[in-house]
Parts: sequence; structure tokens; C-alpha cells
Amino acid sequence: MTISSIVSSLCAITPDRLVTNNELANIVDTSDAWIKERTGIEQRYFCSDLETSSTLATRAAKLAIEKANIDANDIDLIVCATSTPDRTFPATATLIQEALGIPVCIAFDIQAVCSGFVYGFGVVDAMIKAGQAKNALLIGVDSFSRIMDWADRTTCVLFGDGAGAAVIRASDEQNKGILANILRADGRYNSILNVSSGASLGSKVGKLHMEGQAVFRHAVTNISEAIVLCCEKAGVNINEIDWFVPHQANKRILDGVAKKLKIPEEKVIITVDIHGNTSAASVALAFDHAQKEGKIKKGDLVLFEAMGGGLTWGATLVRL
Ligand code: ACO
Repeated sequence: MTISSIVSSLCAITPDRLVTNNELANIVDTSDAWIKERTGIEQRYFCSDLETSSTLATRAAKLAIEKANIDANDIDLIVCATSTPDRTFPATATLIQEALGIPVCIAFDIQAVCSGFVYGFGVVDAMIKAGQAKNALLIGVDSFSRIMDWADRTTCVLFGDGAGAAVIRASDEQNKGILANILRADGRYNSILNVSSGASLGSKVGKLHMEGQAVFRHAVTNISEAIVLCCEKAGVNINEIDWFVPHQANKRILDGVAKKLKIPEEKVIITVDIHGNTSAASVALAFDHAQKEGKIKKGDLVLFEAMGGGLTWGATLVRL
């Protein structure tokens, strides 16, 4: 019997502190008009001093567990995608495990920057299909406000904080759940999007650095290829997809991919205007928003895609 990885729930949250473009214009040489025109971003949310990636993630995970109507004691795998862990170690996944009171299980972090949630779908799907887990909790969380270079106006206006969580369960239902994953990385481009330091490089956390135009040049091509390959792998025609849930980095990238693949704009979920780029939480926040608006429903065919530092990129096709 073939095992399927069913996405039982997917929920997301932001911190409460809303930061408008105009507020940022008070601290760096920028303007609401420039940010909106070049990125589509109008606002984002930042953690308070008391919040961390694990506290945000725990809030999102509680919602996902409740929505999936599952007992937290039955979770046997926690995968947390983050580039902004609370601590260098232990894994943020174990902090979330403790906060939720989940008994002994498998728990670890993965690091694929903005592609983290899509990579997480791949990791959880593989572990479920290998029989290593039955009830998984996948989390994507980042608090990039903590690693922003406030002297660099080209990056500090782009990012926000947030968390998303999905309960993914093993099932014998066919043609449902995670249908295909495509995951890619090309380390030759690690220098165009990175953090300046880290535990072993300089014993410091470091600040985010991005050569925006260089990253932009790869985005449309890489993401489009991943979408096409993912559809081929699942044996699905791109026209059959109900919703595209892209990583929310820049509205111009989303428009570029839609144009290249002739995807009708009403099928593309766009929330970069309200969340900014929330890295590993981004696709979960976009999905959650569309779900609350009544757009995405059970039975829909949904394509998630992302590209981030590494460079990493990928796509996942899910029948809800
Ligand atoms: N406010 C005002 N002016 C600015 C700002 C700002 N915040 N930032 C840059 N500028 C200026 C520049 O100095 C430049 O001025 P100049 O022409 O006098 O030299 C001008 O605006 C144009 O700058 P560009 O860098 O050419 O702007 P661009 O149109 O490329 O937009 C951006 C920059 C938004 C970063 C874009 O390149 C982008 O979105 N890149 C891709 C980001 C991405 O996809 N990231 C992937 C995931 S992120 C992750 O994994 C962590």
C-alpha cells in the first residue's frame, strides 16, 4: 500500500507589532513610494523584545494542532525550518516541543532560508513515506528583524517576522496530500545572499547581506523551472492547479513567474504587501491568509514555491 502525506492543517501568525513603510523612512533614507513601487511591500510585523522564533512558532503550532484536531501527544516528528533560531543549539524544534509538552519524538531544524517551508514539505514527506513518522509538525519561522542591517536601506525595508505550522499525517488515501516535491540548491551563489557571520565564522550572529539585483536575476528562471518540473513529476497540467502560493519576496518576481508560465493572476496568492518577506514563514502566511479569505478550500490543488539564500529553491504540489 502506498502511503500519502496528508496536509491536515496549515496555520500562520505574525507578531503584533505592525511597522509601516513610513515608520522605516524615519530611520533609513527611503520612502513609502520607493518600497511599494520596487517590491509591493506596504507593511510588515516585527517581534517585540520578549518574542523569539520559538515563541512565534509555538503560537502557530498550537493553531495547527487544534485545527487538525490531533492530540499533541501523537506528534512523532517536528521539523522546524528557520535561519533565525533562538540559539545556535539546541534546535528550535526542541524548544517548540517543550513548549507544547510533546513527549519524546524526532525533532530537528532545517536551514534553507526562504525555501525552508518547501524544503520542509520534502523532508517530512520523505520521512512519512519511509515509515519513520505518522503525525508530523512542520514549522517555518523567522525573525529577520533580529539580523537586519539597519544601515543598509537596500535590505532592511524588505523583511518581516512570522511563523507558520502544518500538521502532516500518514494516510492510505490515494491522490491526496503531497503529490510531488522538487528541491534544488546551487552553492556557487552563496555570497549574493547571506549573513555576514555565524557561530563558527566569527562567534557572532552577523547581519543580512543581499545583492538584490543578482538574486532577482535567478528568481524567475529558477522558480519557473521548479514549478514545471514539479507538475511533470506529479503528472499534473499546470492549468489544473487551483492556487499558486509563492514565497513572498517581491511582487515583481511573482508577476514575472506568472507571466512566464501564463498563470492567471487571480490564481496567485499575494500577501507581500501586508507581510513583507518573512523567509521560512512566507508561504505559510500567504496560504493562511487565502484560507481565511475563503479562497483555498479542501480538495484544491495547491502549488507552493520558494527561492532563498544558498541559493536554494523548490516547489511542492499538494492536493488538500
Ligand atoms: N529606498 C530608496 N532607494 C533605494 C532603496 C530604498 N530602500 N534601496 C535601494 N535604493 C536605490 C538604490 O540605491 C538605487 O539607486 P541608484 O540608481 O541611485 O544607484 C536604486 O534605488 C535602484 O536600486 P536597485 O538595487 O537597482 O533596485 P531594484 O529594482 O533591483 O530593487 C530589490 C531592489 C527590491 C532588493 C530587488 O532587487 C529584489 O527584490 N531582489 C530579489 C530579492 C529576493 O528575491 N530575495 C530572495 C529571497 S530572500 C532570502 O532568502 C533571505
